[in-house]
Amino acid sequence: MSNNDIKFIHWFRSASPYIRVHKGKTFVIHMDDSVIGSDNFTGLVHDLALLNSLEIRLVLVFSTRHSIESRLNDHADVSHYHNGIRITDSETMEVIKDAAGKLRVEIEAALSVGLGNTPMLNAKVIISSGNYVRAKPMGVVDGVDYLYTGTVRSIETETINKQLDANEIVLIPPLGYSITGDVFNLQATALTRDVATKLGADKIIYLSSVDGISDQSGKLIKEMIVTEAEKYLLENKIPDAAEQQLLSHAVYACKKGIDRVHVINSSLDGGLIQELFSRDGVGTMISSTSFDELRQATVDDISGILELIVPLEKSGVLVERSREKLELEIENFTVMLRDDVIIGCGALYLYEKEMTAEVACLVIHGDYKNSGRGEQIYSVLEQRARENSIDSIFVLTTQAEHWFRELGFDEISVDELPVEKKELYNFKRNSKIFIKKLN
Ligand SMILES: CC(C)(COP(=O)(O)OP(=O)(O)OC[C@H]1O[C@@H](n2cnc3c(N)ncnc32)[C@H](O)[C@@H]1OP(=O)(O)O)[C@@H](O)C(=O)NCCC(=O)NCCS
Repeated sequence: MSNNDIKFIHWFRSASPYIRVHKGKTFVIHMDDSVIGSDNFTGLVHDLALLNSLEIRLVLVFSTRHSIESRLNDHADVSHYHNGIRITDSETMEVIKDAAGKLRVEIEAALSVGLGNTPMLNAKVIISSGNYVRAKPMGVVDGVDYLYTGTVRSIETETINKQLDANEIVLIPPLGYSITGDVFNLQATALTRDVATKLGADKIIYLSSVDGISDQSGKLIKEMIVTEAEKYLLENKIPDAAEQQLLSHAVYACKKGIDRVHVINSSLDGGLIQELFSRDGVGTMISSTSFDELRQATVDDISGILELIVPLEKSGVLVERSREKLELEIENFTVMLRDDVIIGCGALYLYEKEMTAEVACLVIHGDYKNSGRGEQIYSVLEQRARENSIDSIFVLTTQAEHWFRELGFDEISVDELPVEKKELYNFKRNSKIFIKKLN
């Protein structure tokens, strides 16, 4: 097997938890129109078709800003903005309608390609679009009349959900219709946020013209919790106006219940796939809660736990556990998740008669080691032992002696183990045994 084959298999396996996690989830994706027709457009469309075939529910909102700018420039017309928002007069509105119609057709055409030797072969992507967005005029703000620039009034979530249930991609232009029959120009990034919050989507992905959110030194911020993001905005620490705006949409969305908002550059080939299917994304991820979740394991976590522990069992660091054994003992396990993927686990086995408990199968995925997570899981296990009036915790380890010593464990002999455990002790494995008194 060549190195490339091995790399491919490794990559495919590492992506598999994400395939499971994303299935059936709703993602609202904002597509910056500068990418439409660019060199990267075909690749991006293939990636969207791939997500659709993995049964991810996709809503695609596209912007018209770049098309409008170039059309207005062609006619030597000038765009008028106030606070970064376009003031749409009736002539500009006509240009916007034209641009939106053309872009919509281009996206639909690209998603309809069924050529062989591409991910689009037999993909049969069905796109649905319509008058899903009701809008109202933005009105007069700071004495400035925004004319045909509007804001969202309501969204036909029921209809959109029906299309998504049928595995159709819902395509939404940045236009909204009013009960008076007027058409309003909507800011696509804000519309994306509103569609996502009204739908109760799982993620927003801004495929934008920026790489992500960068700090004052120009360094890309890879991850932010919503409270941090808010602080950055309040303290004016995001110099770029477009990034500032995206971040404030992200903060709003997270506060309204969207778990994750991603900002990535639409011109990065494969960026969407890398962001969604690898541990290290390519842009900025803003998260509504702290990234790691710690909870009691359930049977649904068994596959994830096995993925984490099997490599360590194979290398002899951990004792082998069958799926059946894991199923029987699952309530002893605590799992740590990031983005719904298990990145750590640990188990506590009580020996109530002897008032002691064993910590076992404490593992942190290699990418997340040395950042206090192991200790976090251990504390939960210790807490559980205390709640059960346990006097001491012991552990059998071949590789983590010093780690447990630093947590206050001391070495003991096999004879000091509870009888039941002593009978099972594997002398060939020769694990060291450590104990920590809790009182
Ligand atoms: C042991 C383990 C759970 C620690 O998790 P972790 O999240 O990396 O650890 P923490 O971040 O809480 O602690 C990091 C500190 O412990 C040290 N450390 C990590 N693993 C260690 C080990 N095996 N032996 C000694 N010290 C270790 C680190 O160097 C770091 O020290 P520093 O802060 O002085 O740099 C993890 O290394 C692991 O999964 N090991 C393989 C499975 C295993 O042996 N489990 C124990 C038996 S059940």
